[in-house]
Amino acid sequence: MYFGADYHPEHWVHPYDGTEEEPEARWLRDAQLMKAAGMNVVRMGEFCWGLYEPEEGRYRFDWMRRVMDIMKMHDIQVVLATPTAAPPVWLARKHPEILPVDENGLVLHEGTRHAYSMNSDVYWEYTRKIVTELAKALGDHPQLIAWQIDNGIGGHGTEFSFNEETRRDWHAWLRQKYGTVENLNNALGLRFWGQVVARFEEVPMPMRAPTVHNPALILDWMRFASDTAVAYVGMQAELLHELTPNVPVTTNLRALSRHYDHFDMAGTLDFVALDSYATMANRPAENAVEFDIMRSLKKGGVRTPDGQEGFWVIEQKAGNVNWQDVNSLLRPGVVRLFTYQLISRGATGALYFFWRSPRIGSEKFYGGVLGHDGDADNRVYREISQIGEEIKLLGPILKDTKVEPEVCILFSHENVWALKFPMQPTKYFHQWDHVMRFYRALHDRNIPVDFARPTDDLSRYKLVIAPSLHLLAGGEADLLKLYVQNGGTLVGTFNTGLVDEHNIAPRTGCPHDLTELFGLEVEEFDPRPPDEENHLIFRGSFPASHAHCAKIWCDIITPRECETLATYSRDFYAGKPAFTINEFGLGKAVYIGFMSDQAFYFDLADWLRQLCGLFPLLRVPESVEVSMRRSKDRNIYFLLNHQKNSVRLHFYKPMHEYLTGTTLTGNYDLPPLGVLVLDEKAPGDRAAAQAEEREEAIEAQSS
Ligand code: GAL
Repeated sequence: MYFGADYHPEHWVHPYDGTEEEPEARWLRDAQLMKAAGMNVVRMGEFCWGLYEPEEGRYRFDWMRRVMDIMKMHDIQVVLATPTAAPPVWLARKHPEILPVDENGLVLHEGTRHAYSMNSDVYWEYTRKIVTELAKALGDHPQLIAWQIDNGIGGHGTEFSFNEETRRDWHAWLRQKYGTVENLNNALGLRFWGQVVARFEEVPMPMRAPTVHNPALILDWMRFASDTAVAYVGMQAELLHELTPNVPVTTNLRALSRHYDHFDMAGTLDFVALDSYATMANRPAENAVEFDIMRSLKKGGVRTPDGQEGFWVIEQKAGNVNWQDVNSLLRPGVVRLFTYQLISRGATGALYFFWRSPRIGSEKFYGGVLGHDGDADNRVYREISQIGEEIKLLGPILKDTKVEPEVCILFSHENVWALKFPMQPTKYFHQWDHVMRFYRALHDRNIPVDFARPTDDLSRYKLVIAPSLHLLAGGEADLLKLYVQNGGTLVGTFNTGLVDEHNIAPRTGCPHDLTELFGLEVEEFDPRPPDEENHLIFRGSFPASHAHCAKIWCDIITPRECETLATYSRDFYAGKPAFTINEFGLGKAVYIGFMSDQAFYFDLADWLRQLCGLFPLLRVPESVEVSMRRSKDRNIYFLLNHQKNSVRLHFYKPMHEYLTGTTLTGNYDLPPLGVLVLDEKAPGDRAAAQAEEREEAIEAQSS
């Protein structure tokens, strides 16, 4: 397990610290304090191009080598970033064509980070040069265990740039995809408003215009921008693999929120890393989902520095941030809780951002492990040192453990991009909100969840949930049918298959290509104003704990082979099916034609548990989050109390707790923000009997 900090040694040279005689004196002290806090890794150098190469061709890597030597003396490993996130000022002055241009045609100027276009040939050339020099200068250092490529690719809205070189690449991309202008005009539907082109060179970039651009063109533009970002990172990855074949590469991602395909991006990397934005203002599920997404982005071919499968959280906030309206302190215990949350969901590296709050620059009021004074006698350092001690204990038992969900939620970037187009059936439908209703229901029931693209191998999952796959390619639909045919359970919803991969509405009925699978046809759909509700009347065994509503969107369904589970109670479609199930091959396809309140999704999770034979990891109150990492011979449970109150647990059989080294039995009050790490020897197979036994072993009630 890697445990460390994001260190910026360049901030701590005289006159900011150190002395006139020994300008770099602080570095030694920092390394000593890191070591004492149990740290074994730092990430450095992500914005240092202007310091490595203060003038074109004059390189200075010696100072970073000195930092790495100091780290070596303290057994601290190093992840070095390529510094391309912050091009030096001289480069932009010499080649202003590298600067990004926004959708209004305005240049985004130099003097800060991310001031580059990923379509600039000149920027690619200079990138290759600085990455090569860096790898030649420091790639042989014994402390180097990984490269981070760039930093926060696409940050500050720079995924899109409207430069002339971008236009050139855009046209080449379209030419490669469509071959002929006729194909292009047809696939993009450019007959609409008569926007057909005679040559590829005429296709516009979707810059600011009197009204919306063609949605199919925008979708291709998003794909093109995504391919550009992935190619730029891929170019650096390839170069680094050539220069330092034994050093894995990563980059720091945000959980699905940037405008590129995160799965494609993960494909260019040896392992993925996250900048975590966990906050106490969020529900535990909203923090947990970021980690589950990271783990899901790269499910095979993972190469981490220690060979452990998993992802890293390469920026975990240590204290307050600086970008909220009010940047409150993290309360005592919160960093520890967040750290265990990320570990419990599969992280094998955790690094705090910042090591020390900088005295300079725009992030000087960002909380670090150390404050501006650099003094270790502070609350945050003490808390992180305690975590460091605990991680030393846990590291060995977490070795070779993995999180292995049996449920998966499908997510496709292309679908989200299609849904971003403003002229939708309703502006009150939000895809991520829809996804989160399912995720939260499963999370709060302590049922582990992966994410996947519709084209991934789904055969390992008992249950696949596909919320609102508005854009569904024919190939994706076939794979979903195959999954169910072979015995899987699929949950589909309204707003599925409304367009194909070209953003063209099908003429063969909705959900496009899946009517046979669900045994129904959506005749019409009725988006509803947010303050209006229809109601559901359930038939059969669905455990409705409330009178559930249908809102935002109501599909009007004509059943074919499916069985109806609920009907609408009102309006001209009263009595028509709203919620159905269909046997297909060896499996089942459930269809939910409406959006509802969270309570419905909780009931749904309970019903699906029964339907698919899923078991919660442990039976504890909902306020306790449970995750499990398992290896061949043991299950490690993490119990996290996210609440302000303690929670009473009852252990019917003794269980070993790692952090305290004690055996827990009988009543146990898990304090606010408290964490337990429990061990169970497992026969290897998560059989129903074993799950029942566990449920008997620990039962809990809120105090
Ligand atoms: C990260 C970025 C850091 C810092 C941080 C602030 O995404 O990589 O450099 O700016 O955000 O929250």
